[in-house]
Amino acid sequence: MSLRGRRVLVSAGPTFEDIDPVRFIGNRSSGKMGFAIAESAARQGADVVLVAGPVSLPTPAGVSRIDVRSAAQMHAAVMAALPADIYIGAAAVADFTPLSVAPGKIKKQAGVDTLTLELVRTPDILAEVAVHPRRPRLVVGFAAETDHVEQYARGKLEKKKLDLIAANRVGIVGSGFESDDNALVVYGRDGFERALGPASKIELADNLLELIAVRLA
Ligand code: C5P
Repeated sequence: MSLRGRRVLVSAGPTFEDIDPVRFIGNRSSGKMGFAIAESAARQGADVVLVAGPVSLPTPAGVSRIDVRSAAQMHAAVMAALPADIYIGAAAVADFTPLSVAPGKIKKQAGVDTLTLELVRTPDILAEVAVHPRRPRLVVGFAAETDHVEQYARGKLEKKKLDLIAANRVGIVGSGFESDDNALVVYGRDGFERALGPASKIELADNLLELIAVRLA
């Protein structure tokens, strides 16, 4: 199944939300899964735009990469890159960002043992793409869960109005963060369910894109 001529937009990696000039809040994410998806889509002839959070990974061949740091920047870059045929939200976007960024490094104060940060919600990029006037034909999300994987993943599928969601159980050796391997369960509407892997992230990306291409045909 080919993706020739399809425009595929992928988000990958974490976002970093600055607290002060030297500190940030971020999610654990190597970006490997999203980069593997971008690589696989480009290999299958798609026109791929990869919006990448701060990661140290090389740009896959034939992929247009836009580097961002914060959730707000990722949101702006994704919206500016629409329209697309397929959106795959593989980024681990921070859910909260500091209300304000301290202009200088926050110092410890003698006798003060606590520090309170006020955080505000970031935009849910995936949910917004799924209801956008230029909604891609297929909108695919990821869910990293430690427990009740199916229940939470299906909940997100419905709530965020997605076509597919790929769930991975975190906390299992050889899958998830940092690893080159992973195992996914893909859920879709009407009770669709397909287990993929354990396999390399590249192999999983190929398999996931196959499920996607079938739905575009
Ligand atoms: O709700 P949760 O963060 O677990 O959902 C994960 C999915 O939502 C991922 O596909 C992630 O890329 C996307 N997401 C997003 N914007 C956010 C939070 C999550 O696009 N602010």
